[in-house]
Amino acid sequence: MQTNLIGHISTIFREKFGHVPAHIARAPGRVNLLGEHVDYNDGFVLPAAIDRATYIAFSPTGAPHSTLWAADFDQQVSFSPETISTKSQVDSSPIPEWGLYPAGVMWSLMEETLPAFSMNAVFASDVPRGSGLSSSASVEMAFMLAWQTLGGWTLPPMRRALLGQKAENHYVGVNCGIMDQFASACGVENKLLLLDCRSLEWKTIPLPEHVSIVIADTTVRRKLTSGEYNKRRAACDEAVRLLQQDLPYIESLRDINVEEFNRLAKKLPGEIEKRARHVVEEIERSNQAEALLEAGNVRNFGRLMNECHISLRDLYEVSCPELNVMVNIAQSIDGCYGARLTGAGFGGCTVNLVARENAIEFSRTLAKGYELETGLPPEIYITRASNGAELLR
Ligand code: GLA
Repeated sequence: MQTNLIGHISTIFREKFGHVPAHIARAPGRVNLLGEHVDYNDGFVLPAAIDRATYIAFSPTGAPHSTLWAADFDQQVSFSPETISTKSQVDSSPIPEWGLYPAGVMWSLMEETLPAFSMNAVFASDVPRGSGLSSSASVEMAFMLAWQTLGGWTLPPMRRALLGQKAENHYVGVNCGIMDQFASACGVENKLLLLDCRSLEWKTIPLPEHVSIVIADTTVRRKLTSGEYNKRRAACDEAVRLLQQDLPYIESLRDINVEEFNRLAKKLPGEIEKRARHVVEEIERSNQAEALLEAGNVRNFGRLMNECHISLRDLYEVSCPELNVMVNIAQSIDGCYGARLTGAGFGGCTVNLVARENAIEFSRTLAKGYELETGLPPEIYITRASNGAELLR
């Protein structure tokens, strides 16, 4: 897949710009195993960068503006530092939605007074869009690396992730946490990443040898996801505000344990209580992840994944019928330790932890069962944890 995409963008680059690109970079998508919707509540997350990525071919240009060609859309944008703040192109037309991600990266670099020199670029991705695998973060991290390469400055990967998050929060307008950009920037081959979203300290955790991560794409895409996402985030902020009346020292839902929460839960309006309960219990679950994985206790870790799905479905209410069908079938197949929706939800993918020896048969059975029940052919693949964003040439 990787070599195909590199060949594809290089060919288009030559056609568009008349020479071979000076550089190629890639930045992966991610899958999250545990700790869902807790990154913006200062919790712990356990993602891995995956072997699907955004690839970008790029060269510096003497022009005053950058010209970017999105091979997946057959569309081009041209913008410069002068047009960025109005989200417009050099011809004054608005930057299309897909272009807001690279433009947002340029904007956040300008905010830091880091040079984002003009470039010609062609990019394409095999991270399916809107699927919960962070295609947006992979685009942001690919462009961040491209501008770093041309700008002659170097930021540590976590700083690049934070600037990508800033672009998405303040330029694109999605109030996301740090998990996706972090995983895309900091991924490590064959490892899970455990991030404390408060201190931003992180470490790698080896994935036990005998298990595979299987991603199952329902192929259902929901619109208005960012609106619902921002609403969930606002509900968490509201829960903190109300709980502070009794616990003035708490700064986020990370600061309250399940026991304390149970004691005070009645004081919260029903919907806010459900949202906050998911977060508080999910942080407790993700707190157990490291010890379980280190002890090789995949069975109990898988149970936490299953519990996480129920909580996302019933308390956080970010699942959908197709995701529930995919999870229910997966959990009934031999060799499946745990299955749940991954990412923001409202459609997209599930993540499954499966005994390696069963992974191929599991994928076949799951695909058949899902199509039988929904009429939709899913896309199912065994993924490998990969490195984070890197310059390939
Ligand atoms: C999206 C956001 C992340 C995170 C997840 C849910 O992927 O970009 O920051 O909040 O949803 O865990």
